[in-house]
Amino acid sequence: MARRRMVYEGKAKILYEGPEPGTLIQFFKDDTTAGNGEKHELIDGKGVLNNRLSEHFMEGLASIGVPTHFIKRLNMREQLVRAVEMIPLEVVVRNVAAGSMSKRLGLEEGAPLPRPIIEFYLKNDDLGDPIVSEEHIIAFGWASQQDLDDMVSLGLRVNDFMSGMMRGVGIRLVDFKIEIGRVFEGDFQRLVVADEISPDSCRLWDIETGQKLDKDVFRRDLGNLADAYTEVARRLGVMPRSN
Ligand code: C5P
Repeated sequence: MARRRMVYEGKAKILYEGPEPGTLIQFFKDDTTAGNGEKHELIDGKGVLNNRLSEHFMEGLASIGVPTHFIKRLNMREQLVRAVEMIPLEVVVRNVAAGSMSKRLGLEEGAPLPRPIIEFYLKNDDLGDPIVSEEHIIAFGWASQQDLDDMVSLGLRVNDFMSGMMRGVGIRLVDFKIEIGRVFEGDFQRLVVADEISPDSCRLWDIETGQKLDKDVFRRDLGNLADAYTEVARRLGVMPRSN
């Protein structure tokens, strides 16, 4: 069998050419990084968990009409996705002060925010993904005003859906990051949620105890990351070790 062609390798995933034009295979690695790759470990089973959890979230989003790149899961570590033109921005939605926002603005971690706050970061490893304003985005042509409006709307819809799903299993969705891509249909373009949604890209706190069930466990050396993600999967009824 011919070796398939790798299209892109990132810190936690690999993209391969898909079986049909316009498709890609997204492979979830066990590699876990923090601080723009400064801290790096292999965490056994993390890729399997994120593959299943991202499938769960993307399918849930599709069921309420939020477009995503997800087509279907292929096996324990791979999913078939639509090839999209990625917008070079990370869209972060925050419900509670934490992480870089707490640091930047001197807000206590855990302080509720008056409303969901959306931020944009430029995807650029060399620069450490700097926060950017809507002015920067338009002026430098990373996205149009229409794209920006659509990204805000997608971010808020994902936030509503994910917050509700998590609240149902006793977890607070503190914040999360999504990446968005363009798909072209004739003369029209549509924005879809791409990449992954997983505990790597969200902050998830147990509502009762405040226990962290996300990548901060790794970033801050708080315990076993795979156990934390397994707990999220267990509560959601996503069973990573069965197919
Ligand atoms: O670090 P910061 O507080 O800005 O992160 C906000 C949210 O975005 C967190 O849930 C974090 O996991 C996620 N994030 C991410 N990838 C990045 C930066 C942040 O998934 N490169």
